[in-house]
Amino acid sequence: MDQLQEKISSLDKSRMPVHVAMIMDGNGRWAKKQGFVRSEGHAEGVSTVHRVTKLSSDLGIKYLTLYAFSTENWNRPSEEVATLMYLIGWAIERELPELLRNNVRIHLLGDIERIPEEPRKKLFFARDATAHCTGLQLNMCLSYSSRWEITYAARKLAKMVVNGEISVDAIDEKMFADNLTTAGMPDPDLLIRTGGEERISNYLLWQIAYSELYFTPVLWPDFSDEEYVDAIIDFQNRERRYGKTSEQVQNNE
Ligand code: FPP
Repeated sequence: MDQLQEKISSLDKSRMPVHVAMIMDGNGRWAKKQGFVRSEGHAEGVSTVHRVTKLSSDLGIKYLTLYAFSTENWNRPSEEVATLMYLIGWAIERELPELLRNNVRIHLLGDIERIPEEPRKKLFFARDATAHCTGLQLNMCLSYSSRWEITYAARKLAKMVVNGEISVDAIDEKMFADNLTTAGMPDPDLLIRTGGEERISNYLLWQIAYSELYFTPVLWPDFSDEEYVDAIIDFQNRERRYGKTSEQVQNNE
């Protein structure tokens, strides 16, 4: 048995994360280290997306949420934005047959209307073509930021109040969550950020209230299957208390 298989078999199958979210950071630095332009780092990053999707699916994880392009990423140099948009469309088209073979459902989170028409059409095609899939749900966050999402939800609820559809007092945490782009999904159990920075960067701020955070210095293109399994092993060694005491958790109170 190789090392990866050994690590996978050491996982506690009863304590697998249901929802894993990832911040894929470090493509630019990876490219610079190799003497390449930044876009080549993003292209290499697509291979990591392919691998983590396959491994998540093999491990029976139900939701994988990837921060592919943030609202703030629109402020990057226009050539880099154009390459990323091209890559996203190209990758989704190329991966579609394998996503279907692996029963993976694509879901899009973010202000998708801002994505240029060509990649947007490919994204919508992949989303519709995989709508019947019942395995892993791959959430792609595109033109996404948490503050955008929360503001959007607040506006929607305010309109419902103004139109007399709901009362102000009916707005509770559940109703708020139901108006976010992640409506109906469980919150992430584990959030992994590659690339060495230890921050959240406007990602899933509402949803990660009780997520376990895992930061690794490994750059996204170098993030291997073994490192992914290491993150899950680390997650399985944590005690999730949700505000309770350790004793309460251990006594199942
Ligand atoms: C951060 O690295 C990465 C991004 C802004 C884009 C991530 C996109 C991909 C991995 C490719 C396309 C994705 C899909 C889902 C097909 P960075 O550029 O900030 O790196 P740096 O911090 O080293 O500069």
